[in-house]
Amino acid sequence: MLKMKKQAISSFLILVLILFIGSTCPGVEAQSCKPSGRIKGRKPPPKKCNPVNQSECCKEGVFYQTFKCSPPVSHQTKATLTINSFEKGGDGGAPSECDNYRCLKNITIYGNGRKVNATVVDECDSTMGCDSDHDFQPPCPNHVVDASKAVWQNLGVPTHVGELDILWSDA
Ligand SMILES: *[C@@H]1O[C@H](CO)[C@@H](O)[C@H](O)[C@H]1NC(C)=O
Ligand SMILES: *[C@@H]1O[C@H](CO)[C@@H](O)[C@H](O)[C@H]1NC(C)=O
Ligand SMILES: *[C@@H]1O[C@H](CO)[C@@H](O)[C@H](O)[C@H]1NC(C)=O
Repeated sequence: MLKMKKQAISSFLILVLILFIGSTCPGVEAQSCKPSGRIKGRKPPPKKCNPVNQSECCKEGVFYQTFKCSPPVSHQTKATLTINSFEKGGDGGAPSECDNYRCLKNITIYGNGRKVNATVVDECDSTMGCDSDHDFQPPCPNHVVDASKAVWQNLGVPTHVGELDILWSDA
């Protein structure tokens, strides 16, 4: 179901998977969103984590930071753009996380002196990870925008760069 939905959406020129779930915590901790804790990685059962295209699998005994919030969203929110093939089971494996208020809304991404609009199709859990619900992948960072190839192409940046500093805002 989820996968079909994603494929349908990916026929749009541009789309994006936005990585944070800790809802934005306005006001109080305005400039800082500190880790809420950490979880200890355990080794994924055989064949349970598919480390393709830069997706990462939890490692036994490694500690991973968790976040219950994301940096506040402004008209120029700093983030790191990464590339997603939208083909892996990955963090879409769990029931859809795209039920927060920004899902299926459009955002504008500014990078490399250009801007593109993209649709948010998923969110990634920063509060938990390394379990079957999360495909045995670590909790996500809370300031990453994981985008399709089309987004990179429209920004004029080759995908092999891997990571790009961007600003984004609600479209
Ligand atoms: C990994 O990335 C390559 C190149 O972008 C793509 O062709 C391939 O389908 C991806 N594999 C998976 C399993 O997502
Ligand atoms: C977001 O962008 C898509 C594709 O460009 C467009 O079809 C859609 O109407 C936009 N959605 C909103 C909520 O503006
Ligand atoms: C993005 O979408 C907004 C709202 O629909 C629109 O005003 C703006 O021109 C679009 N920007 C780009 C770069 O397509």
